[in-house]
Amino acid sequence: MEIDPYPSVIPYGRQWIDESDIAAVVETLRSDFVAQGPKVAAFEAALREVTGAGYAVAVSSGTAALHLSCLALGLGPGDCGIVPAITFAATANCLRYVGAEVAFCDVDPRSGLASPERFSEVLRRRPEAKVLLPVSYSGSVPDLASLSKLAKEAGAFVIEDAAHSIGASYGEGTPSGACEHSDAAILSFHPVKHVCAGEGGAVLTNDASLARRVRTLRSHGIEPREDWSYDQGELGYHYRMTDLQAALGLSQLSRLPEFIARRRELAKRYQNAFCEEPFVSRIQIATEDEQSSRHLFVIHFRNEQERRAAYAFFHRHNVRVQVHYMPVYRHSYYEGSESRLCSGAEAFYATCLSLPLYPLLKDEEQEYVIQCLRAFLES
Ligand SMILES: Cc1ncc(COP(=O)(O)O)c(C=O)c1O
Repeated sequence: MEIDPYPSVIPYGRQWIDESDIAAVVETLRSDFVAQGPKVAAFEAALREVTGAGYAVAVSSGTAALHLSCLALGLGPGDCGIVPAITFAATANCLRYVGAEVAFCDVDPRSGLASPERFSEVLRRRPEAKVLLPVSYSGSVPDLASLSKLAKEAGAFVIEDAAHSIGASYGEGTPSGACEHSDAAILSFHPVKHVCAGEGGAVLTNDASLARRVRTLRSHGIEPREDWSYDQGELGYHYRMTDLQAALGLSQLSRLPEFIARRRELAKRYQNAFCEEPFVSRIQIATEDEQSSRHLFVIHFRNEQERRAAYAFFHRHNVRVQVHYMPVYRHSYYEGSESRLCSGAEAFYATCLSLPLYPLLKDEEQEYVIQCLRAFLES
């Protein structure tokens, strides 16, 4: 079947900034504060409301949030953390920033999620591991209750990487980021994520002293005092979020229900389309999780050759599909790290492809993506 390229480029993800978001930023630009003002605190309060976490500390990126979580938990040289092999590199890098080692665990070859069993396998080899970093890959929250039990038995912390899952829920409807089963969770406000703040991130926790530590570390390690003086008690960073970013984040956060509803609607349309031939016998959907926030819509081909060919076909037709992710241990920086048991991650990586999914994706653009896949499968 022949199909013409789409007249404009369809990305795999992008932000949706509307006039209300622009007005919120302009209002802040006209106000007395553009850096450290009331919007950061208001954004943090709104994040607590949405996630149910007791404390939220806004920072400059999701990566900074991961770094500060590791620091605040006291992780350092000689420690080891367990990270799912399928994630963005930042989930592992935060351990390296504090001088800790990374041990990668395997994931389910379809969902890309690391189950408690996969973490447990690595814990048997590395019983000294001090932290587990489960990732809510694509917007699906892993089995945090069991992971927390496992971590407690091992004397390890849990930092949830919830960069993909604000607005998702798990179990009986607990919101992602509530930190019911973790010491801390992190969010990202990069433009392809649900809530865009230009760039930005947050640490969520129910532990008051951990939140205080993250707050101090995001601003040079300096403790403010009542009067003019201040003291830098330890070496911190400049990882603060600005009021401009927070104004955008706050406005976007008020639109989160609309964003999630549209993402779920688009995901359902893909699911319905792929129930039929030629799709049903040639591709599989990575997850049908109804509680997912649908950050990514991932499909699997039968083998790596088909995935490679499909990637090239989509790109020739102006559809910028992506691969999320190459197992982190394959990056040259991580060469030599243990990866011998990650056959699930290898299978996942070989066959996965993320289709366009973002609230601004028009129905006709999605229809084109589906027809493009049909044309590929019938070619
Ligand atoms: C799973 C995951 N963790 C962490 C991050 C880092 O977030 P940021 O880009 O805000 O630093 C990302 C960003 O892509 C991510 O996808």
